[in-house]
Amino acid sequence: MVVLNLGAGFDLDVQLAITGRRCIIGQSGSGKSYPVGVLVEELCKNGLPFMIVDTEGEYNNASLFVMTSRSEGMPAVLLEAQSYGIPAVTFRVKGIVDVVEEKFQGRLINAFDINTFADAIISYYRAWKSSKPKYCKLRRNIAKFVNSKYSDAAIIPKLKNMLIEN
Ligand SMILES: Nc1ncnc2c1ncn2[C@@H]1O[C@H](COP(=O)(O)OP(=O)(O)OP(=O)(O)O)[C@@H](O)[C@H]1O
Ligand SMILES: [Mg+2]
Repeated sequence: MVVLNLGAGFDLDVQLAITGRRCIIGQSGSGKSYPVGVLVEELCKNGLPFMIVDTEGEYNNASLFVMTSRSEGMPAVLLEAQSYGIPAVTFRVKGIVDVVEEKFQGRLINAFDINTFADAIISYYRAWKSSKPKYCKLRRNIAKFVNSKYSDAAIIPKLKNMLIEN
């Protein structure tokens, strides 16, 4: 067992730290990021491999969400991308059609027409290249639309109705 020392009197079993799901909760400034920094330093020192994905950074830098799913239940990752205003190129399949409004939030391509799918990706690339301000405006509109459609105020009454009816 490898134990990491994260500070005086605070040792952590590596297996506990990096397997399964962990979550650090605390109010702003309470010291969530700091121990994560110490943790990764200790992992480096012990030669243990790890990967950090900055989801928010990735979404903020992305310009297009490409999804090739054959079907979806509740496509949370698609909603997550759309909440950052990223237009989507997807196939017109179950689950996705409930989320993406054609030509506004993205393009729904007949399943599995890969040539049209590729053309849609290229057309977004051209739109991005030809006018960054226009593309930013599109992103803002998508983010505004999705964040209001799936806001607490919009969703909670629907959930309440569903639970009461059933
Ligand atoms: N154990 C510690 N020893 C020394 N300094 C610490 C420790 N924990 C936190 N700090 C310092 O306290 C400040 C806030 O910590 P941190 O940035 O980890 O908070 P946070 O909970 O991630 O904040 P936010 O919610 O804003 O992201 C930072 O300046 C950090 O360096
Ligand atoms: Mg932080």
